Formats: sequence, C-alpha cells, structure tokens
Amino acid sequence: MPFRFYIETYGCQMNKYDSELIAGLLLTGTYELAKTLDEADIILVNTCAVREHAERRVLGRISELNKYKLIKPKLILGVIGCMAQRLGEKLQNIRYIDLVVGPDNYRNMIKIIENLRFKRRRKQNHSILNNKEIYEGIIPYRYSKVHAWIAIMRGCNNFCTYCIVPYVRGRERSRSVDDILNELHNTAKQGFREISLVGQNVNSYHYGDVNFAKLLELVCQVEGIERVLFVTSHPKDMSDDVIKIMAQESKICETLHLPFQSGSNNVLKAMNRGYTREYYLNLIDNIRKHIPDIALTSDVMVGFPGETDTDFEDTLSLLEIVRFDSIFNFKYSPREGTKAIDFEDQIPEEIKQARLERLINLQQKISKEINAKLVGQTLEILINGKGKYPNQIIGYTRHNKAVICEGAEDLIGQFAIVKIISTSGYTFKGEIRD
Ligand code: 5AD
Ligand code: SF4
Repeated sequence: MPFRFYIETYGCQMNKYDSELIAGLLLTGTYELAKTLDEADIILVNTCAVREHAERRVLGRISELNKYKLIKPKLILGVIGCMAQRLGEKLQNIRYIDLVVGPDNYRNMIKIIENLRFKRRRKQNHSILNNKEIYEGIIPYRYSKVHAWIAIMRGCNNFCTYCIVPYVRGRERSRSVDDILNELHNTAKQGFREISLVGQNVNSYHYGDVNFAKLLELVCQVEGIERVLFVTSHPKDMSDDVIKIMAQESKICETLHLPFQSGSNNVLKAMNRGYTREYYLNLIDNIRKHIPDIALTSDVMVGFPGETDTDFEDTLSLLEIVRFDSIFNFKYSPREGTKAIDFEDQIPEEIKQARLERLINLQQKISKEINAKLVGQTLEILINGKGKYPNQIIGYTRHNKAVICEGAEDLIGQFAIVKIISTSGYTFKGEIRD
C-alpha cells in the first residue's frame, strides 16, 4: 500500500513554496499525494508564527486533525514551518503531534518520517536553524498547473522590532542564479506561463555580481514564461535599477507589493524599518513616473507600541495619498524574543481594534473606487482555475485582480481577453472576447 501525504499550508508565499518543495521531495521516495485528508497516512501542517492569533487558530486546527489519528492509529501528524521552529519542544510535547520540523530541516523529511515508521521512534523534532540551507537542486511538486512560485532567497537580516521571521527563518541567503534559471526553464517546459519570485526581501537578492535587477532581466529571457511577479519588496531596498527593469520588461506585471507598515516617522523608527514617510512617498512617485498604471498593494500595521492618535492619522493619510489597490492590515501582535515586546506604551486591544476598523473602512472605499474604474475595460487574463459554479473559470489580470467568467475548464492555463462587466468591489465578472 502506498503511504500518502497531505500538506495543509498557512501563511506567506514562502510557506506555499516550501510545501511544494516538501511534496517534491516526498514524491522522489515511495510516497504519494493524498487528494483529501481522509486518504492521508501523513498530514503535515505548514505554519506561520508572525501573529499570535494565527498561531492559536492553527493549534486549534491541529487538535482537530487528531480525529484522523483516532480513525487511523498509524497516521503521522506533523507540524512544520515557522511555528515548528519557534515552539519546537513545546509542540513535540503535545500528545498527538508526532513530528516537528523547522524551515531549514526539510531536506531530511523522508528520513524523519521513516524514523517514525520503521525505527519505532515515538517523536521527531528537527528544528535547528541552518543558515546555509537554500534547497538547491530540489524539484518542487506544483499544486497549481498555471502559476509557479520560485524561491530566490531565504531568511531575513532586517530585524524589524516586531517581527519573528529573522528568528525562525534565520539569516538571509540567496540561491544561485544557475539553480533559479534551471528551475525556471523546467517550469516553462512543463507549460507554466506565470511565475512569482519569492523571498522575505527579494530586493536584497545577491549572488556573485547578480543583484535583483539583473536577476529579473535574466528571468525575463526564459522562453515560455510570459508573466513575472515577485514578493516581498522592502522599500529601503527598492532600487532605481529594479524600477527601470520593471518599466522596460513587458513580461513583468504592473503590480508591486510594497509594505509600508506605518505612515508615521516615529513609529517607523521604533519599528527599525530603515526609511521615513517622505522616502516612501518619494519612492511611490518615482515608481509611478516609470510605470504609470502600476497596481500597488501593501502591509499595514496598527497599534504598534507608542502609536499615538496622530501617528495613526499619519497612516490613514498615507493611504489617502498613495491610494493602494488593496492592503493587508494587521493589529500589532507582541512576539516573544522580538525587541518590541519590551517597549513601553503597549496599545490596549480596544484601541487597536478601533484603529483597524477605521483603516479597513478607508481602504475599502479606496479599493472600490479604483476597481469601479475597471468596469467596461478590456483586459488580458491568465485563466488559473475553476470558479465556484459549473462552466465558470477564474483568471487574473496583470494587476493580479481576479476575474470570473463563463468558460470551459479546458481553458485553464490559457490567456484570454475579457471585457469587465461588473465588480463586487474586489472581484470582477467578465466576458471572454478572444
Ligand atoms: N504583529 C502584527 N503584524 C505583523 N507582521 C509581522 N510581524 C507582525 C506582528 N508581530 C505583519 C507585517 C508584515 C506581514 C507579513 O505581517 O505587516 O509585513
Ligand atoms: Fe519581518 Fe521586517 Fe524581515 Fe519583513 S523585512 S520578514 S517584516 S524582519
């Protein structure tokens, strides 16, 4: 009987990539993909440690997954990713968790599972940081057949004072140009048309004399790849060269995720972000000068320690000035081991919540105004998957906006020209024209 695995993924794009990396590794052994949890002999939960609330929810989910062990006593339940790294032994001590593996220990996944299956070990905990691990030479298994994630670097050296990532993903290191290009050529040969380069801070990619701008240029030369995206960019490292390449290369989509976190210089300083409000606004002007129809998105945090009403107003005013297409918004969550946990003036929950609501309301208004202008336009989408209902497909524009159309499943993977008919404010309905 084959031993089947199922990976449930939470958190950022890097986690999505890592799950594909692990799936690729397991498929080189005697393991097979489980299509559903019911089919699985091993369930891995790939976790995020950035906020406490998300961690608590995932812990709840893991205890829920224990029910599969009650049906199948030999089922292996594992926690991988950033929470595994952060909580190592604490997770190992939870009765129903068999395996705990941090982000730098995936290479040994088969051996770790086999220790449980064949060596009668009760528990496996592998959560040691390895600042050299870049997973060269491993071919990921891609869950999507249209869009491929490609990690170009791992870890982070920025130590924003609120952030756990540098502690759970270790120091920044870049993957070799050859390895990245090899993976890209393979994905192109397999028929992928769109790729996203991923890393905690892609702008600081550096391998030999190849920086991120140069890498983008090389990536755009890969035949068969027609759309190039990347996440996440750090404002302090967003160079003129990268902006110029984005403007020059038609394959690079006109979309940029550029987290600003706060519009207040006091807060930005306390966060150790390495830029000011004025720098950020100048950067946006410069980007728009070169790429006028760029769709901008961002991460924004409210309730950082010491954030005053005036600081928060500065965040709102930055939203009004820049007018992002959409944002991810967060309430500051204190993380053990980070500097900000010891900062004075922690903000009470009610104030954080009230600020979050004002932030969301303002952004909703802006997003709706921006999106309403797309109705009536004719745009290119890449059809990515099925919609909720029969004969419905979903595709993404170059601005990464989801468009739902009527169409057959065999269109998945193809480009289409659509006329945008209506919008809910966030997603769009379209009609295929070509
Ligand atoms: N609390 C709240 N949000 C956080 N983020 C990172 N750390 C924290 C934290 N401690 C947010 C930042 C980052 C995004 C990935 O998560 O906005 O850009
Ligand atoms: Fe965290 Fe800052 Fe690094 Fe992003 S740049 S991963 S927010 S430390």
